[in-house]
Amino acid sequence: MNQTMNKTITTRLNKFISDSGICSRRKAEEMILQGRVSVNNKVIDKLFYKVDPDKDKVFLDGERITPKRHLYFLLNKPMGVITTTDDEKNRKTVVELIKTKEKIFPVGRLDYNTTGVLLLTNDGDFSNLLTHPKNKVPREYEVRLDRPIMDEDIDKLQTGVFIEGKRGRFNKISFTSKNSKKFINVVATEGRNHFVKKMFAALSYTVVSLNRISFAGIKADIPQGAYRQLTKLEISGVIKNYGR
Ligand code: URA
Repeated sequence: MNQTMNKTITTRLNKFISDSGICSRRKAEEMILQGRVSVNNKVIDKLFYKVDPDKDKVFLDGERITPKRHLYFLLNKPMGVITTTDDEKNRKTVVELIKTKEKIFPVGRLDYNTTGVLLLTNDGDFSNLLTHPKNKVPREYEVRLDRPIMDEDIDKLQTGVFIEGKRGRFNKISFTSKNSKKFINVVATEGRNHFVKKMFAALSYTVVSLNRISFAGIKADIPQGAYRQLTKLEISGVIKNYGR
């Protein structure tokens, strides 16, 4: 019999689970080790187990799971929208702004009144690459301050200031207006919550408005409130730059 006709394409069990949009590969490994995953009615707790996606039936906690098509969106987030999949106070969420039947989630977060580049996906691994601190993914922000920034503070913000006991710094600071030192661009490679606001607050400035103009080099090239799918080049660029 022709060998190639018999050939099956298998995939690692943790990848199969993360491809179903439930969680990352790392989280899937934990679930496998916890004995929560079965294949064809047999509990599998070995990390290197491979499945044939066309034939094998995979269950997590007794529920059948099937791999999904991965989706990647860029949203130019408007103000007054919360970065979550579900808000207990019933405020509008970023997920509601995107028309899709798939369950997607935001990659990291932007504050309620922060605007700009926010990625959303159902690919847990992709999200992890972009949010893992070791990858130092660049985020560029347009900042408006309550008062002009002083030269010595520019230096401090680039050398490092302490926020919540841990040093943070901006990798780059530049001015966007010739006339006012209230308008600046900063590049950070950290994603701690409220990072930009806290950095400025550490030196007694208030951020009046904040707009993320790029994330991982992906720019807000659409109007606020609009969204588009990422291009193949943008997706492969992220994997090439930050992938394992
Ligand atoms: N830093 C902040 O303070 N807020 C954001 O929304 C993003 C970065």
